[in-house]
Order: sequence, then structure tokens, then C-alpha cells
Amino acid sequence: PLPQVLAGKTVTITAGPTREALDPVRFITNHSSGKMGFSLAEAAHALGAKVNLIAGPVSLPTPGGCKRINVESAAQMHQSALEYAPQSDIFIGCAAVADYRAASVASQKIKKQGDEITLTLTKNPDIIASVAALPTSRPYTVGFAAETQNVAQYAQGKLINKGLDMICANDVSNSNVGFNSDNNALTLYWKKERIELPQSSKKELALTVMQAIAEKIK
Ligand code: C5P
Repeated sequence: PLPQVLAGKTVTITAGPTREALDPVRFITNHSSGKMGFSLAEAAHALGAKVNLIAGPVSLPTPGGCKRINVESAAQMHQSALEYAPQSDIFIGCAAVADYRAASVASQKIKKQGDEITLTLTKNPDIIASVAALPTSRPYTVGFAAETQNVAQYAQGKLINKGLDMICANDVSNSNVGFNSDNNALTLYWKKERIELPQSSKKELALTVMQAIAEKIK
């Protein structure tokens, strides 16, 4: 049994993709598998935390002992995050939230038209930035950044711009890691510190990330 370094703590984690409807039968989404977020939930529970897992549409089983809240769209994930974050000591945004949604969702199936059609998209709210900006009951807020270049610079930029306490960055140009893979390699950034975690299974990395967070909030 692992040292229960998160005993008495509540952790809320977003995981997986979001699904943005275009009409009753179509949607926009991405390839996020949810594996990293689900591994974090499992690790947090193994370290003694109470865990809320806000999951986009993924087919993964719920890690034992975790409370799962299923959502589809970014708007639903946002609402759920704002409900659970103020009761949490730690909030981790691991979901690959769609940046945009359809400006209007057609109530009937969109019919085939000419050779080109135009979709108008509207920006989704930044879920983790709104959690980090909570005026009261703000949890320790941890983001993820998937980058294909300038990883350190972009990750540190997101840490500051979103008002996060910590960000976990990975280079998704390396196809051995990241989306859909069972493995990952992460660099953890704080404002004045960084830790490199070499390539390993998402389960092992998740445990290291949760232990690093526990150390920081002690
Ligand atoms: O800006 P970018 O999408 O790269 O930032 C990634 C981080 O921000 C992740 O922690 C992700 O879960 C979070 N995010 C969010 N809401 C959005 C977009 C990203 O919470 N609309």
C-alpha cells in the first residue's frame, strides 16, 4: 500500500475529449483517449484522495472508488467543473476540450448542399482558466499542455495566462507518447521550478504527478 499522502483531500479531474454537436447526428471531436486523466484519477484514489472524474465520451472503465460524471460538450464540462471545483483541494484539467463549438446547432439533420459549405464556430469557455480565477474556494489548479514545438515556452505561457499553479507538458510530435498511447513523457512546470519525467507508462507517470502535487500542497 502506498503512503496516503492525499488522505482527506478531494481531487477533481477532467478527462477525455469533448463532443460538440453540429446537428442531431454529427459532431466535432478529437482523438483524446482519456487514458492520462483516468490514470490520474486512479493514482489520486490510490494515494487516499476522494476523486471526482469529469469524463468526456470515452469507453474506459471508471477507476475503482472514483465518482464519475459523464459529460459530452465543453459547455457541460464547464458547468460540471464549476460545480465540483469549489469543493476540491486540487483541480486537474486533463481533458482535450474543443476550442470551438458550432455557433448554432441545427435542430434537423443538415442536408447535403453544394460543393462547399461553411460552418461558423464560436469559442468555448476556457474551463481551467475559469477554475483558476475562482475568487473563493479556489483549488490548487493543474493544467496539461500538448505541444508539437517550443514545449517549454508554450507551456510556461499557458501556466501564466491561465493562472495555473502547475502545468504538465508533453511533446505530441513524438508518436510514442501522448494521444491514445499508453505511454507518455512529461515535464512539470511551476513558476520557478521544473521536473522532467522520462517516458514511462501513463499509470506510473500519473502516480509521480499526483505525488508531486501532494508535496506542493503540503
Ligand atoms: O490552451 P490549451 O488547450 O492548449 O490548454 C490546455 C489546458 O487547458 C488543459 O489543461 C485543458 O484541459 C485546459 N482547457 C480547458 N478548457 C478549454 C481549453 C483547454 O480547461 N476550453
